[in-house]
Amino acid sequence: MSPREFPQLVDGRATPAASGRWLDSIDPATGAVWARIPATGEADVDAAVRAAQRAFTNWWALPTLARAAHLRAIADAIAANSAELAEIETRDNGRVINETLLGDLPACAQMFHFFAGAADKLHGDTVQVGSVSFNFTRREPHGVVGVIIPWNAPLSLMSAKVGAALAAGNTVVVKAAEQAACSVLHWASLLAGAGLPDGVVNVVAGLGEDAGDALVRHPGVGRLTFTGSTGTARVINERGADRIRPLHFELGGKSANIVFADADLDAAAAGVSTAAVFTGGAGQTCVAGSRILVQDSVLDEVVERVREIAAGVRLGDPMDPTTTMGPVVSDEQLARVRGFVEGAPSEGAELLFGGRVGGQELFDAGSPFAGGSWVEPTLFRVSGNAARICREEVFGPVAVVMPFSSDDEALALANDTTYGLAAGVWTSDLKRAHRFVRDLDAGSVWVNAYRRIHWALPFGGFGDSGYGKDSGWESVLENTRIKTAWIDLT
Ligand code: NAI
Ligand code: MG
Repeated sequence: MSPREFPQLVDGRATPAASGRWLDSIDPATGAVWARIPATGEADVDAAVRAAQRAFTNWWALPTLARAAHLRAIADAIAANSAELAEIETRDNGRVINETLLGDLPACAQMFHFFAGAADKLHGDTVQVGSVSFNFTRREPHGVVGVIIPWNAPLSLMSAKVGAALAAGNTVVVKAAEQAACSVLHWASLLAGAGLPDGVVNVVAGLGEDAGDALVRHPGVGRLTFTGSTGTARVINERGADRIRPLHFELGGKSANIVFADADLDAAAAGVSTAAVFTGGAGQTCVAGSRILVQDSVLDEVVERVREIAAGVRLGDPMDPTTTMGPVVSDEQLARVRGFVEGAPSEGAELLFGGRVGGQELFDAGSPFAGGSWVEPTLFRVSGNAARICREEVFGPVAVVMPFSSDDEALALANDTTYGLAAGVWTSDLKRAHRFVRDLDAGSVWVNAYRRIHWALPFGGFGDSGYGKDSGWESVLENTRIKTAWIDLT
């Protein structure tokens, strides 16, 4: 079967790249080329930004309820096409169908409904500075919002960013990740049918250093929101230095999941393993609780339970609803994970289980998955926090477990990271739970839970994990800029 082609959407038209070139998109479960995406270049990005600029005036002038109705129509289009969208995303990035179809797709539709509800609730303030003037503020959109997303959860990351931007009256240019652009490109093909005016949403693909860079440097982009690696965020800061405009960064993490001896250990073991690392997306989630801190008196017990949970993980066809973990997204990502797994022992990490990397290691030679980018659930034991595997984001089903004895030690270990995305605490002590929520240096803290995310709650990190929020009312506000008015009454 020849690979399916997913065109880009520029000014309401489905087009190939101006260059006519395409990039292969790989099914990471098998390693086969299954689709082709446009090799978007600077000319395409320029056309997309200009289309978004032209569409902006009318979009911002719409009555807010009309904008909301458009957002609801997008939600309905997602709901009506969720099976196909989920299958495309699972095929493209390998995350299991149960997570995309049952988790992400309903959430994507809900996000557009949530932001539809926000569209008519934005308002400025009147401010009393004296009786001789009337002062008020207006919340206005930035204009064109540039949206750069990664490959691990393309549709849901797109929905959070695009929903908030459109609700506030902006138009958008979305740059999807080259490893997994197809689901977002297919979503774009539904927009005309949903009645969205041309140019309000433009979606391109292409390489980060081509299309992404062109979007970063384009003078027509009024705000840029990016989810991806901290390293790429630094490149964006440098390459975009000439452009003075708001940036939003949602980046990586090295999040701690802390288990106290007084916790419900069954719940904690399930929480630290399945909820964060040994997931349908093979641990490729920014909030992965990849540092598991366990109070020393229960360390062996927790490790045993995590080992049992990991042994029950089923690698296999991501389209099969009984599969619980898919491959990592690409051979490049596989090589990255391999580097961490192979390097850890030389830094004193002890392999507790797992460690096999690569389709040939994990499947029979005759299996279609032997050519895929597979890693099995892997756990290392470390003492202390110094090894590379404790400090850098692996982005695979690989975690470390480390002991602690006191609350102070747990807090110090958890906060000993340049990142600050998320953290979890498992305890039955209410005061301890509140102290950790207060003292953990992270943008999200879960107590007796992990990786719960909801469109009504702001999500984003501190430190090297970035700044600004996706989701929640805050994300709508960040998509506006405040104008101050001063009317003289004398
Ligand atoms: P990346 O951060 O480079 O890619 C994310 C997006 O940025 C993609 O759409 C890409 O095309 C774009 N991009 C890349 N270079 C760009 C540039 N110079 N200008 C503008 N846009 C650019 O992530 P990558 O390389 O795919 O993955 C590498 C590592 O990053 C992973 O191993 C993982 O550790 C981390 N990562 C973290 C994510 C998170 O959500 N925390 C998501 C994706 C990757
Ligand atoms: Mg792919």
